[in-house]
Formats: sequence, structure tokens, C-alpha cells
Amino acid sequence: MKVIIVKNYEELCQKGFEIMSELITKKPDCTLGLATGGTPVGLYKKMVEANKAGKLDFSKVSSYNLDEYVGIDYNHPESYHKFMRRNLFDHVNIDLAKTHVPDGGAKDSKKAIDEYNEMLSKATIDMQLLGIGSDGHIGFDEPGTPFDSVTHIVDLEESTIKDNARFFDNDLNKVPRKAMTMGLKNIMDAKSVLLLASGANKIDAIYNTVRGDISTDCPASILQNHPNCTIIVDEAAAAKLQ
Ligand code: GLP
Repeated sequence: MKVIIVKNYEELCQKGFEIMSELITKKPDCTLGLATGGTPVGLYKKMVEANKAGKLDFSKVSSYNLDEYVGIDYNHPESYHKFMRRNLFDHVNIDLAKTHVPDGGAKDSKKAIDEYNEMLSKATIDMQLLGIGSDGHIGFDEPGTPFDSVTHIVDLEESTIKDNARFFDNDLNKVPRKAMTMGLKNIMDAKSVLLLASGANKIDAIYNTVRGDISTDCPASILQNHPNCTIIVDEAAAAKLQ
């Protein structure tokens, strides 16, 4: 596990952008694992700018997103489908047919999960981008998720519901209670992993991820076993590491 500590959010996005764009440039038909949440927004913005400037081509890139809420409409502004369209897909020359987000709105969620796992088993993700929850979750794999898990439905932790209320008018009642997420095995199957963490509310999650025991209490700690994992952390989130 390689840990890069940067000064602030701007530097975090710049470093993350450099790593991801290098992959896309070297391997134009790469497969990316993509993440949502507030943290990757600045990185996506840089990707959009580079694409608009003709410096980064997404035409052959494929993508698989980590997760999606269950129980809100596909067209809800805070669905992860919409998040990806708004922050990246609608502004770059990616082929939407090559982008994949779990179908949280599916009537038959078991079937949707099986299909996602089937797709993932045929794909090789070159780089999986991750944020991290304040409780150490990655994707929506909350504490207690088995390390051998694949895409499944989860009940979100109260802390996650609280953290994500900012996207739902700060109204806890509006935050979905369930989500569909890649499992930890799917994430570990990626050839490389790039985790970004910013801000003081990630201090404990980052400490447990990097220095803690490998334990399902902190799902991200499994990344210590990944052969090619880079973690970029700003000084605020890295406070306990230094
Ligand atoms: C959600 C997402 C995670 C993300 C986490 C942290 O729970 N499912 O993938 O890492 O939020 O979000 P933020 O980056 O906004 O702190």
C-alpha cells in the first residue's frame, strides 16, 4: 500500500488526476472502476477539462461504478446514475453504452445483482477509484461485510445515512436506507486501486485502513493485502498517520 500525503483537496484531485489520466493515455481502452461521493468530484472536473482541451480521450474507455442507492428513482438528482452523468459522463466523449452502474431501481434486485456480478466476472478493472466512508466503508461495504463478498444489497449504517444527508437537503428521512454495492472481492479483483480521502472526518477511517489490523470492522483495511493500491490523503485526513 503506497500512501501519498498532500496538502489539501486541490492537490489531492491533481495527484489523483495525474495517476488516472496516465493510465487512460497509456491504455486508451482501459476499464475504470468509478466512485461517487463528494471526494472524486474535483478529480472528475479535471478529467472533463482535460477532455475538453483535447488532452484525454474517453472514446474507448469502459467503466463500472461501485454502487447505487436502492429505493430512489433512477432520475432522482442524487441517484448515482445521475451523479455520474452530471459530474463526468455528460461532459466527456465516453460511450454511454460502455458505462455501467448497478441498477438500484430494478424491480427484481436479485436478478440485477446477478447480472452485475456476471458482467464484473467477465471484465478486468484496470483501476478502481475509491472514496472512503467515515466508518471505513468502501463502495457501500459497511463494517462487517465479508471480505469475499460480491455485489449485494446492504442496509446503510446510521453514520453513513447521517454523512450522506447533506446530499438530501440535510433531511435524514430523505436518505435511502438501502444500497446495491460491489462487494469487497470485486474491489480487490481490480488490477490497481486508487483511494482518495480528504478532511478531518476521515482521520480514524484512514488510520485504521493504513495502520490498523486487517479486519471487517474497517472494510477498507483489506486494501493492505492489495498488490497495487495507492492512497492519496490530504493533511487533514492524514493527521493520525504523521
Ligand atoms: C458514499 C459512497 C462511497 C463514498 C463515501 C464517502 O457512501 N457510496 O463510495 O466513498 O460516500 O463520500 P464522500 O467522498 O462524500 O465523503
